[in-house]
Amino acid sequence: MRVTDLTDDDRLWVQERTELLFGGDFVVSRTEVHDPHKLPGFIAAEGRERVGLATYCLYRGECELVTIDALCQFMGVGTLLLDKVEAAARAAGCTKIWTITTNDNLDAQRFFQKRGFIISQVRLGGMTKIRLLKPNVPRVGYYGIPVRDEIEFEKVLAPLPIE
Ligand SMILES: CC(C)(COP(=O)(O)OP(=O)(O)OC[C@H]1O[C@@H](n2cnc3c(N)ncnc32)[C@H](O)[C@@H]1OP(=O)(O)O)[C@@H](O)C(=O)NCCC(=O)NCCS
Repeated sequence: MRVTDLTDDDRLWVQERTELLFGGDFVVSRTEVHDPHKLPGFIAAEGRERVGLATYCLYRGECELVTIDALCQFMGVGTLLLDKVEAAARAAGCTKIWTITTNDNLDAQRFFQKRGFIISQVRLGGMTKIRLLKPNVPRVGYYGIPVRDEIEFEKVLAPLPIE
């Protein structure tokens, strides 16, 4: 598997994946609206087949992981993509990476916590506000769990030791 920079050739595909996964081609985080297909990111591919993507946004010394999407789970795609985003954030001088997921997304909660993220904020009922902008967001999510709350995760990016 190889991971490369997201290029203009990938943007339509990223837009389609965002629509599938997030009920619209944009995502709302805190007070920002992001168009993932316009952001920097990485694409994971197996041969000619795209198998995952991650998009991010850098500002004020922090990196927001806006989307991460592995088409086949539990095969290492997410880890490779997250490593790339963390490396890009470090290279840009960021000291923190953060991301948002929902209460039903137990796989993502496990994934982030096992990779050094901690829960930094919980917005109980936060999805009600999101649905005003994105009425297509499903009411029932992973494992049949009602989608209600936003959970923010963050990780401090310690400088890598000099070899
Ligand atoms: C969250 C998400 C990105 C994780 O990606 P992933 O590709 O499944 O993650 P990985 O495969 O790298 O790691 C998951 C587990 O699989 C295990 N794994 C990795 N390669 C493996 C392999 N070849 N065989 C078996 N298990 C493997 C990892 O060890 C890891 O286990 P751990 O968490 O206990 O350490 C993925 O579930 C996803 O795309 N979900 C839908 C979109 C989403 O919810 N995004 C997050 C909110 S934006």
